[in-house]
Amino acid sequence: MSEQVKTAIFPVAGLGTRFLPATKATPKELLPVLDTPLIQYAIDEAREAGIERLIFVSHPSKQAIERHVMDDARLRATLSARGKEDLAAELEEIALSPAEDDVVFVMQEKPLGLGHAVLCARDHVLPGPVAILLPDDLILGPPGALSEMVSNYGRSDAGHMVATMEVPAADTRKYGVLSVTARDGQLIRADGMVEKPEPEKAPSREAVVGRYVLDASIFEELATQKPGAGGEIQLTDAITRGVERVGLVGFRYSGKRFDCGTKVGMLAATLELAAQDAECADLLQSLGVLAPDNQAA
Ligand code: UTP
Repeated sequence: MSEQVKTAIFPVAGLGTRFLPATKATPKELLPVLDTPLIQYAIDEAREAGIERLIFVSHPSKQAIERHVMDDARLRATLSARGKEDLAAELEEIALSPAEDDVVFVMQEKPLGLGHAVLCARDHVLPGPVAILLPDDLILGPPGALSEMVSNYGRSDAGHMVATMEVPAADTRKYGVLSVTARDGQLIRADGMVEKPEPEKAPSREAVVGRYVLDASIFEELATQKPGAGGEIQLTDAITRGVERVGLVGFRYSGKRFDCGTKVGMLAATLELAAQDAECADLLQSLGVLAPDNQAA
């Protein structure tokens, strides 16, 4: 299977309950790691991977996401008029614009689950496999995780590719876990996936994280998928149903992943990037969080 991956779906319609009250008025996907919102890291990753169409599955109460994602010419003009041309240029560089980018916003009126959110994008995807990025899983490269997945997708001979990482046995209950059949470098061959298994029942420690490249048949599976755990339409259930027909492979990305859907993950990501920023690193050193040679104390 060597079809090109042209579409990326960003499901951003969730309630973000684990981050309340921060997410009462601010979408989780706009929470910043230092000065950059989570959604921006995911967009940058998709662009690096050569994605042509970006589809955001959002909710009417989360319009701030669209305001962040799309270009704001008026704000740039104001910044330029105040002599802040560099900042204006920086904003233009990261923003998506209707004239230059292929961007679609669709609404998921009710948060019926990740699988349902992906299904909402169905009528807007370009032909071929689709990429899905969960912005609260921040994966710092280089190389970008999606870019690595897209370039290895063709040689994987599998329709469904999921990003994976090795987790401690005690953590398998937090993830979808692959039933591994063979390992071939970064490619982890699998014949199934178990959702959140207890350690003694886990088929491996190869846990699925928020990057997927999925065969287009995923939409057929999702359309007929019954609600699973939590009464939600689960993406992993639909992937599992297609495994025999299209094949499944895990991909061990090279970057470092942070679960920014949790406070601890968000703090870890912030410290990681702060240590790479001269001004912040000075503060971390003075607080004793970072040793003078920039290694975590
Ligand atoms: P999460 O389960 O991490 O997000 O879904 P959540 O449901 O918003 O957060 P908690 O668990 O209540 O704290 C991963 C991604 O899928 C999106 C979320 O917005 C997030 O980016 N999602 C989830 C949807 O778009 N729709 C849904 O119905 C559920």
